[in-house]
Amino acid sequence: MNEILRAEEVHKAYHIGKRAVEVLHGVSLSVQRGETLSVMGASGSGKSTLLHVLGGLDKPDAGDIFFEQTSLVSMKPSKRAAFRANRCGFIFQSYHLLPELDVLQNVVLPSMAGVGRKDAKERARHLLDRVGLSGRMDHRPMELSGGEQQRVALARALMNEPDLILADEPTGNLDSHTGGNVLHNLFDLAQSEQLTVIMVTHNEEVARLCQRELILKDGKLEE
Ligand SMILES: Nc1ncnc2c1ncn2[C@@H]1O[C@H](COP(=O)(O)OP(=O)(O)O)[C@@H](O)[C@H]1O
Ligand SMILES: [Mg+2]
Repeated sequence: MNEILRAEEVHKAYHIGKRAVEVLHGVSLSVQRGETLSVMGASGSGKSTLLHVLGGLDKPDAGDIFFEQTSLVSMKPSKRAAFRANRCGFIFQSYHLLPELDVLQNVVLPSMAGVGRKDAKERARHLLDRVGLSGRMDHRPMELSGGEQQRVALARALMNEPDLILADEPTGNLDSHTGGNVLHNLFDLAQSEQLTVIMVTHNEEVARLCQRELILKDGKLEE
């Protein structure tokens, strides 16, 4: 057994004034290194909340997340920031590229928050080549199609050689053909870089591409 991530009885609610919106009601999960998982669930069921908590972007109200047996909840903020920068890569539905930077600069950017590597540009060029964008490195995100922008976001997520990729509806804004190409890039890189992938999706076909399919329902995960 080589467990990379474990969630234990995670609870999370949002408070708006005096009202509490209970989102996660005791989510438990064990993920092995190299696994690919999909998470499906109705809109508003808490999928994004779950990814944020798993990636240390947000804290649970109760329960804990263990990354390589280390608690994210009791980790010092500086250590948690380093975990997010170096061990974990996020991909969002709406790319979140910086419009004033070119493609290469967007991909290099995380290396400045991470361990800082001398070969950052070389690594970025390699990743852009892997996702078929070696000819677009000096373009601005605006000059690219949605699928191309998401491939840049994928390369950026991999910049610091993370162990874990958390993807929140990464093909939600793309048509199925374009989305399929992005997923092909993702799974191809996941295999060669030995990544663990947790992907939220609305699409059953996309979910089936993963080794394990989970459903978030009534605040709990079902296999
Ligand atoms: N920052 C927030 N403040 C208050 N409520 C929130 C916040 N983020 C999400 N919610 C609520 O929590 C629930 C789950 O949201 P979310 O995790 O985004 O669901 P999903 O990604 O499955 O659509 C929704 O009812 C949403 O309105
Ligand atoms: Mg969401």
